Amino acid sequence: MPQESEAVIGAEWGDEGKGKIVDYLAENADVVARFSGGDNAGHSVTAGGRELKLHLIPSGVLHPNVISVIGSEVVVNPLTLIQEIEHLREQNVDIDPARFLVDRHATLIMPWHRMRDALQEAARSGKGGKIGTTGRGIGPSYSDRTARIGLTVNDLLAGDFEQRVIDELGRQEKIVRQMQGEPLVSEIIGQLHDAGDRGELLDILERSITKQPFDKEQILADLDRARSILSPFITNTVPFVRDTVMKNGRVLFEGAQGVLLDLTHGTLPFVTSSHPGVAGITVGFGIHRDQLKRVVGVIKAFQTRVGEGPMPTEQQEKIAERLRGTGANPWDEFGTTTGRPRRVGWLDGPLTRYGASIGGATSLAVTKLDILAGMGDIPFCVGYKVGGIVYKEPPTMDVHFLNDAEPIYELQPGWEMPQGGVKTPNDIPENARRYLERVEDFVGLPVTIASFGADREATILL
Ligand code: IMP
Repeated sequence: MPQESEAVIGAEWGDEGKGKIVDYLAENADVVARFSGGDNAGHSVTAGGRELKLHLIPSGVLHPNVISVIGSEVVVNPLTLIQEIEHLREQNVDIDPARFLVDRHATLIMPWHRMRDALQEAARSGKGGKIGTTGRGIGPSYSDRTARIGLTVNDLLAGDFEQRVIDELGRQEKIVRQMQGEPLVSEIIGQLHDAGDRGELLDILERSITKQPFDKEQILADLDRARSILSPFITNTVPFVRDTVMKNGRVLFEGAQGVLLDLTHGTLPFVTSSHPGVAGITVGFGIHRDQLKRVVGVIKAFQTRVGEGPMPTEQQEKIAERLRGTGANPWDEFGTTTGRPRRVGWLDGPLTRYGASIGGATSLAVTKLDILAGMGDIPFCVGYKVGGIVYKEPPTMDVHFLNDAEPIYELQPGWEMPQGGVKTPNDIPENARRYLERVEDFVGLPVTIASFGADREATILL
């Protein structure tokens, strides 16, 4: 069995701080491979002294000896991708075909997917069921893939590429026209106007109800530019990644989102459309959990969620403001992709155990322990009460059950950050260590990485 490859996955609702852990582990990797999701994800990297927000390109690109891969199960918005390549090149980060590969089988996210995402959300919002998506067209592009329609990266290489795009545009216009039938869309446009909203969502919705919702010439021109920039990177990544794993190369699989947002195992419908756990690696690369040395499930010391859906331990007002921060710091809890304030709450033991287990984690990394410092005793959720019955595990991810779940908390003694921060295992405050031990015990996995701050040196191997 191969011994050297590993994965980093989010065990909660995303934004657990995976980028930081990937960045840390990428130093020893040969390959960093992104396996699921699209530009709904986001992580910040520092290049040329400037902070860049990357959505698609794995953070491995910043390590000169690492080959970065975008796999077949990723949904690729070609315009986001070329923008990121250009930004990185401006910062003198070398993006060369020997070090960056994009799978030819990945599905493309096109303007119609973003439009359908907006239309679906508009239709749902009137009925109180808005998901709160990132608006990046993720759901519609994955649905096209399962419906076996849509364009793939491969189409960018085809001789008759223009014709393929024109044919697809025709099909998609029909789909969008069917969706416009909803009188609700006009109502929502009216409401957004009344609210003085001139945002991108309003633009997309307005365009959707015109006779020609898509600008064919612009789409063709954009894709033509994308294909000239992307062509050198396009390949079949599966044999390369599989060979590297099987020959004991060090592949680091980089997760996006979190297992509680898994299409099948999350809080449907408030989920994303991919599989953020090890299942996504298997689908995208044909690599299985027993071919990995370890799978690091990343969790935060408290919990956050963006978008709608149940969150039993959610906090409001003062505690929420304290956990979230004001937005003044880059690590405050505001979405990297949408800028939305994240919902925040205490660590939910049963959901974390579920996420880590379904995702296939073999150890945990716990981030942002510094944020809990100075807050006094820390509530840790160890079960729920629903209709007078106590549950130690969520018996279902059904949203009605979780909405009704009243968390049962255990108070963990709090801690203060030591002067000079935490830079070695010896600097970890005694009660923070106890908190980690309680998490280990409850989730049933060892905590092997703990992070006490934004600096690299605040990430501690245990
Ligand atoms: P979508 O992936 O844009 O369709 O959004 C579906 C749900 O997943 C929404 O609740 C989003 O807020 C959430 N989501 C998607 N990507 C991320 C992420 O990278 N971090 C946190 N939440 C995310």
